[in-house]
Amino acid sequence: MFKYHCLNPISPVGLGQLDENYVNTDQAEDADVILVRSAKMHEMEFAPGLKAIARAGAGVNNIPLDRCAEQGIVVFNTPGANANGVKELVIAGMLLAARDIIGGINWVQEYEEDGDIAKITEKKKKAFAGTEISGKKLGVIGLGAIGVLVANAATHLGMEVYGYDPYVSVDSAWRLSRNIHHAKTVDELYKECDYITIHVPATEDTKGMIDKNAISLMKQGVVILNLSRDALVNQEDIVDALVSGKVHCYVTDFPTKEIVGVKGAIVIPHLGASTEESEDNCAKMAAEEIRDFLENGNITHSVNFPDCDMGPKGEGPRITILHKNIPNMLGQFTTILADKGINISLMTNKSRKEYAYTMIDVDAEVPADLKEKLEGVDGVLKVRIL
Ligand SMILES: NC(=O)c1ccc[n+]([C@@H]2O[C@H](COP(=O)([O-])OP(=O)(O)OC[C@H]3O[C@@H](n4cnc5c(N)ncnc54)[C@H](O)[C@@H]3O)[C@@H](O)[C@H]2O)c1
Repeated sequence: MFKYHCLNPISPVGLGQLDENYVNTDQAEDADVILVRSAKMHEMEFAPGLKAIARAGAGVNNIPLDRCAEQGIVVFNTPGANANGVKELVIAGMLLAARDIIGGINWVQEYEEDGDIAKITEKKKKAFAGTEISGKKLGVIGLGAIGVLVANAATHLGMEVYGYDPYVSVDSAWRLSRNIHHAKTVDELYKECDYITIHVPATEDTKGMIDKNAISLMKQGVVILNLSRDALVNQEDIVDALVSGKVHCYVTDFPTKEIVGVKGAIVIPHLGASTEESEDNCAKMAAEEIRDFLENGNITHSVNFPDCDMGPKGEGPRITILHKNIPNMLGQFTTILADKGINISLMTNKSRKEYAYTMIDVDAEVPADLKEKLEGVDGVLKVRIL
């Protein structure tokens, strides 16, 4: 029986994946696993029994990853589970930028009490007219979970799509429509496209990537969409470009004091992943990751330990060891097993930066003191015998 604790409300669709072997506990210190969305965990103390934290969502800056790793707590996230929600908002953003739909709707509201609204509309509507997105060129920077969906969907709307991602994964490359042009440099994409949408993580390398230099290479009247992170776009430079008219419209999911109220800015209150489906998908993925880890020891989508998969646990015991990535760990584990006369039937070891994970399937029951022996090896963080 495993105990889970929810720090935030988690979608029942996700919790429904946890079967009768799982019970909810109100006490975080009793839990085998904590499920979380945005609750801040940096000040929390973690009990020795805590094995995993699952973040239903992508960002993990509310969780102290290094401290968790040091305590042998595996932190999971759910990358891509909200990708469709973000994709749909990007498409909506392009359509909102193409005509002044927001201005038009607001204008109609002003005539709430006016019986002549139908007549006035026909006279005034041209102020809100615009263009179609079909036939326009869209540049997608970052072809990961979200970028691929946006690029593929845009081709179905009649757009000519350019993609740029020097680090694209094999998986993403397989999913990308063959109709997408491969931009070899980001400058090529800046020069060609009428709409440019960014789907990269905010890192030291990507921070401020859309700045006055990048904008200077773009077409007059370009539309820029940023539903990734505000830090990717230099706020001062985008405001200047909107004021000068170089950028026709900037669609962002991140209100900042600089951008709110600027003409041409469509500022959405961070709704990218705010759909029932996204929340359900994230919670389902988190629950599946937890089950596979607690029941089989497999790690998928961890952010502080390597992913490692030996398939479902068989009849015999499976030993899992979270440890530091230092020399001779495997040698010490196998020596301890050999000294106890235990035969290894399958073994995997994976590392990620300073941490590593070893999974060992053995043929026969293990002695009661084996866990303690393995835990005694310098650099071992947590041992489980499943
Ligand atoms: N608005 C929201 O609510 C919301 C929701 C989910 C995600 N996001 C944001 O969207 C971003 C993308 O999400 P995802 O799930 O597609 O991530 P992902 O990790 O699947 O894809 C990111 C892609 O960016 C590429 N990349 C990295 N650096 C690059 C660079 N310099 N130039 C071009 N490509 C580069 C990577 O190779 C990868 O393919 C996330 O980092 C997150 O910040 C926002």
